[in-house]
Amino acid sequence: MVLIYDKLVLNGYFDYDSIAENLASFLHNRKKVLELCAGTGNLTFHLVEKGFEMVAVDRDFEMKTQFEVKNEYKNIPFHLSDIADMQLDTTFDAIFEHSGSMTIERFSNNSLHLKYQDKEKLVLSLQRIQQHFKEKGLFLLNIEVLDNKKIETADFCYQRFVIEKGKRLHSFFDKQTSTTILILVENSYLSIDEFQEILEKQGFSNFSNTNMFFFCEC
Ligand SMILES: C[S@@+](CC[C@H](N)C(=O)[O-])C[C@H]1O[C@@H](n2cnc3c(N)ncnc32)[C@H](O)[C@@H]1O
Repeated sequence: MVLIYDKLVLNGYFDYDSIAENLASFLHNRKKVLELCAGTGNLTFHLVEKGFEMVAVDRDFEMKTQFEVKNEYKNIPFHLSDIADMQLDTTFDAIFEHSGSMTIERFSNNSLHLKYQDKEKLVLSLQRIQQHFKEKGLFLLNIEVLDNKKIETADFCYQRFVIEKGKRLHSFFDKQTSTTILILVENSYLSIDEFQEILEKQGFSNFSNTNMFFFCEC
């Protein structure tokens, strides 16, 4: 499953070169960086190459295994943990998440919404994040634009259809077995103002965003 995941995201679902380039310009001289929901490390390794001292967190064992296969630097720590349980014995200049548990989505009317799963867990996760900052740390979340996507490789065809607001139908056709998997995803959303209120209560401030990232400080 993880190998298919990597094939999909590396074949055009995400443009990691430009995401890493953007991130690096925002992180600038905040060199000690925690990446939440790091997955198989596609951004982590790019950022190490750009001179950042990275630490990765993800709760998925299969992702960790694949991260380690790709970890040619050998010294990038990976902590297998849910964000809500995270307890690392160090603090960071910046913490970011790309397409993880708290992605911000830009709807077709241009408004920004936070996609989340559970409100209590969201607050707990923000508290954990807050505990891992050096003073005036930078927190970044990516902004995903909801568009229809099609990715075709030699062995599979993937399509994502945006139905309304954040509702999405994912279709995955395996050419080798001629099998189609359909997944309908319906998320919970908070408006960006509601999210900022929650962030403020947890000690975050100075909110801003570009096309690609939402920022604040803690
Ligand atoms: C779509 S992948 C993105 C991986 C990577 N950030 C990237 O951009 O390639 C989402 C990852 O978030 C992780 N994840 C989701 N919720 C999490 C949570 N609450 N705590 C830790 N990891 C989480 C999943 O295990 C998965 O590896």
